[in-house]
Amino acid sequence: MPSAGSAKETGRYEGSRLRKLAVMGGSYGNVPALTACIAHAHAIGCDGLAFIGDATGCCGHSDETIALIREHFPFLVAGNYEQKAASNEEDCGCNYTNDEDNHYGGIAHVWAMKSLSAANRAWLGSWPDLAYLETRAGRILLCHGSPGQTNEFLYESELDDGRLKRWLDQHEAVGFVCGHSGFPWMRDLGAPRFAVNCGVCGKPDHDHDAAVHYASIDLSTPTPSVNIERVEYDHLAWADQLDSEGVDDVFTIPVRNGVWTCGLLSMPATERVLRPRPNGWLATLRQR
Ligand SMILES: [Fe+2]
Repeated sequence: MPSAGSAKETGRYEGSRLRKLAVMGGSYGNVPALTACIAHAHAIGCDGLAFIGDATGCCGHSDETIALIREHFPFLVAGNYEQKAASNEEDCGCNYTNDEDNHYGGIAHVWAMKSLSAANRAWLGSWPDLAYLETRAGRILLCHGSPGQTNEFLYESELDDGRLKRWLDQHEAVGFVCGHSGFPWMRDLGAPRFAVNCGVCGKPDHDHDAAVHYASIDLSTPTPSVNIERVEYDHLAWADQLDSEGVDDVFTIPVRNGVWTCGLLSMPATERVLRPRPNGWLATLRQR
């Protein structure tokens, strides 16, 4: 597993004219969810979109997903799925500690490779492992798991502000955005400095709410204003479609009801607990 920033040259992107940045990751082949997030970002005034890895995964539909990313995202960073696709390996490189989680991660990656063309596989291999986006607010560091390791899980319950600030110092950045874990968070490191996990735009975050997430960063204010955006899409129709295509229900159950079925045993106990149910979650399930 290449480490962020060490295997390839750091990507360098110019964004000094951007007023509002959207950062997404973890689409896992969920075409309608990614489409909804892109539309949402444009609707709230985002004029720059970054994708920080794990485009492909358990839903398949890899080439359709890559086409959306080619069209809409000028700023790119590779995730573990891109790195493993590029090296033609069969495990997902997720960095799970549990055998069952690894088993299902491998199934997801192998399934994703079936709908990925050779040309797109080669393109994924060109994405940088770490990138600098130069904005009017300063440099924003884009990474997948952490600035130091593509597949590190940065969980909110384990954050060490000193470590986060050292990364900002090291990269002379005002803030950094990561993903990979699937659970979004925001951290104020003393204005204007910040760190944010954008969550994932292809899977809910284990709270009985089927909506997905990405991060927006308003750059028009003196201090960057960070937000986690919640986006709904027709998740029930998508789950039905995936079922009809033969996707294992380990993967369609979370799409359908917002509760994870795998990946949990590798988490810290404090993160593994089911998130509180949002208002209206049961009514949503009964709308079918
Ligand atoms: Fe990942």
